Order: sequence, then C-alpha cells, then structure tokens
Amino acid sequence: MTDFDKKTGASNVVPNDLSAFWMPFSANRQFKKNPRMFVGAADMHYTTSDGRQVLDATAGLWCVNAGHCRPKITEAIQNQAAEMDFAPTFQIGHPKVFDLANKLVDLAPDGMDHVFFTNSGSESVETALKIALAYHRVKGDGARFRLIGRERGYHGVNFGGISVGGIVPNRKMFGTLLTGVDHLPHTHLLEKNAFTKGEPEHGAYLADELERIVGLHDASTIAAVIVEPVAGSTGVLIPPKGYLQKLRDICTKHGILLIFDEVITGFGRLGTPFASDFYGIIPDIMVTAKGLTNGVIPMGAVFVKSEIHDAFMSGPEHMIEFMHGYTYSGNPMAAAAALGTLATYKEEGLLTRAAELAPYWEEALHSLKGAPNVIDIRNIGLIGAVELAPIKGEPTKRAFSAFVKAFESGLLIRTTGDIIALSPPLIVSKSQIDEIVEKLGKVLNEVD
Ligand SMILES: Cc1ncc(COP(=O)(O)O)c(C=O)c1O
Repeated sequence: MTDFDKKTGASNVVPNDLSAFWMPFSANRQFKKNPRMFVGAADMHYTTSDGRQVLDATAGLWCVNAGHCRPKITEAIQNQAAEMDFAPTFQIGHPKVFDLANKLVDLAPDGMDHVFFTNSGSESVETALKIALAYHRVKGDGARFRLIGRERGYHGVNFGGISVGGIVPNRKMFGTLLTGVDHLPHTHLLEKNAFTKGEPEHGAYLADELERIVGLHDASTIAAVIVEPVAGSTGVLIPPKGYLQKLRDICTKHGILLIFDEVITGFGRLGTPFASDFYGIIPDIMVTAKGLTNGVIPMGAVFVKSEIHDAFMSGPEHMIEFMHGYTYSGNPMAAAAALGTLATYKEEGLLTRAAELAPYWEEALHSLKGAPNVIDIRNIGLIGAVELAPIKGEPTKRAFSAFVKAFESGLLIRTTGDIIALSPPLIVSKSQIDEIVEKLGKVLNEVD
C-alpha cells in the first residue's frame, strides 16, 4: 500500500526492487542506483517521493499542455469509467468519439475535415504513412511508394517512424528498416544561426534538396514527405524563414503529399492550435497525439484533407475502405479525456496563450547567453533549447549531469544529446518562467 500524505505529497513507499521494469529511453543502471520518483502532480509541479516540489519545464514529455491533474479532465475520465469503459470502434461506434472528431476538425486548419484515431504519436505516424501510400494506390498511382523524411527527424519508434526518422541511435540497431526511403538534410546551421531569437534567417535553401531527391528518384515514385514543423526530440530545430513554404510548394508541384508531424507542436505549443496555423502552411496530412488528451490517456489523431479521405470512399458499401485501425482507436476513455482537455484549453484560452508569453519567454531564455559551455540558445512559441558544448569524448554527459542537477534543485528539464529542451505547460506564469531560467542558470554554472 502506498502511504501517500495528501498535504505534503510525501510517500514513504519506494519499490524495493527496481529491476523488473525495463525503462524506456532511460539509462536504466544509472537510474536504479539513484532513482528519481514522482508520486503526485498538480498544475505546474510534480511531487517527489521524498516530498519535494519539482517545477515542470517540459510538460511531462511535451504533452501536459494544460498542466497537471486539471479538474475538467479528471472529472471526464472518472465519469466515463463509471458510464462505459470500452466500446469497439470497428463496425460500431459511441457518441463521444464522433463528437470529438467534429470538435477536432473544427479546430484544424481549413480542409482538414477527417480524423483517424490512434493511441500514440508513433501509431499516428505509421497511420499517416499508410494513408499516404494507400491514397496514391486507390487513385491508380501505386508506383508512388517512396517516403521522404529528414535527417535528425523524430517520428516515434515504430518501423515506419524510424525509417523516415533521422536520429542515428534510434535507427542503427534495427536492420534494414523500410525500403524506398530517402532523407532531406537537417536544418541545424549552428555556425550561421546560433543565438537566433525565433525563426533563423539562414537555411531556406535546404528545402531545395527535395528537388534534388525528386530528380534522383523521379516524382512519379514519391508518395510523401514527412517533417516536424519544429523538430523537437532531436533538440529543438526551428525551421529557417521560408523553408516550410518551399517544401509545400515543391510537394504541390510534384503531386507529393506533405505530412506535418505535429505531435509536439499541436495543441497550442506555438501560440496557435497547430504549427500549420503559425506558419500559414497547410499540409495534406497532420499527425498529432500528446496534447490531444493532455497526456492523461494515450491517444493520437491523424487529420487528412477531404480529397484524401474521399478517394477511399469507393467500391461496394459493405466493404471496409481502409484496412487499418487499433483496438483502442477512439476508445471511450481516451475520447472523454480529449473532450475534457479541449474544454479546458477553450475555457482558459490555452491554445493561444503561448503567443502572449513568447516574447517574455524569449528574453528570459536568452539571458542565459554567456553561461558556461552554452553554444546556442533558440526559441519559438513556448519552446526553448539551450545547446551545450559536449565534453570531449563523452557526448551527452554534460547535459545529462545538468538534468540530474536540475531535478535535485527542483526543476524538470529534458535533455537530448547535449541539448536541454524546454516546453513548460501552457499555464506557466511569468514568475515561473523566471524561476525556470534562474534554476537552470545555477545548474549551468555548477555542471563541469
Ligand atoms: C514529432 C514526434 N512524432 C512522434 C512522436 C512519438 O510519439 P509517442 O511517443 O507518443 O509514440 C514524438 C514523441 O516525442 C514526437 O515528438
């Protein structure tokens, strides 16, 4: 039994054997020697097992956009659990999932009129890639089988996602991956763009590499290009001015579908509902997850334009049009959580709040320029990154030490390589932004 003190949040129960749980994306041995445990959460803070408050500067894992344990969401889940736990969505339905789909397409950019539900960002990516391939095929253009990703891209951990993704350690262990995949170059031009506030000036020309790839393979073989509008997990790479528009134009010119992976940028991270709204560029397919349910119940959603959806709606009416779906695609608990989340976003104006905070966030973050080992600071919306010079021969160690020190000092940050990524819940106050920057500044001064 957990002996959990509601007032202090302290719990005296820490599992005494940590070996059974093989932790995802974790340094298991380091963790198990010196565990870091959360036992409670509310709004902007976690509570640790030793009763300390930790300020969440990463919205959990880029997902808790409305802050922790928000009442509307909790209530929606509690009610749904008592009312109807599970209902299939294969050949049958339940009202909340249709209600949710309608609300989502109302929120999405114009023309994104249909939504397919999944359980995660990774599954949303696989779903989007499959829709793209199948779309060309149902149109009679089945020779378009190639998928184009980007170096340093992150599209989850399933085989399609790591094939189009471009983070080397996530790919190199897993064999031949999907065939027929090529990659655009990444857009991280540190020597030209370091310490840029907002969108970098240099690098739009990197989108022209898509023309080179088209020249190499021929457009008639390419189904889709997938990119994150702002690359997150690789360490926050903000698209150079004009870059995304160029990609859009080249895709349109060659009949290639453009997929935006908005798993982290979706649901208000840039101060607009989606990055597509922020940049004024509408992709053909939009991949989301995380903030859709505030991270509370796993759920993803893939948005598609009507012409894509409608292309599948032919043949005998008793036939299944798209042979794809998950047991939990749109299950009632996730749908209830998402509806509670959307209601919270709306009531509190959270999908546009990052726009108000962005200038303050930018100034605060860039005040860390000059701290030891900092070689770049970048920001957009309520996203930030502080890139550190790696320790010679020991990449990732410096940032990981910063992560551990930050946790000990009451701040949750996320690190990837030698980059510290920041993405606080959208309810963060200005004084909490100050606290994030002050604590991080101290940590940077302490790590070797
Ligand atoms: C852009 C992007 N795509 C896909 C994913 C995978 O999402 P999940 O971990 O829910 O499978 C992530 C996760 O961080 C992501 O940032």
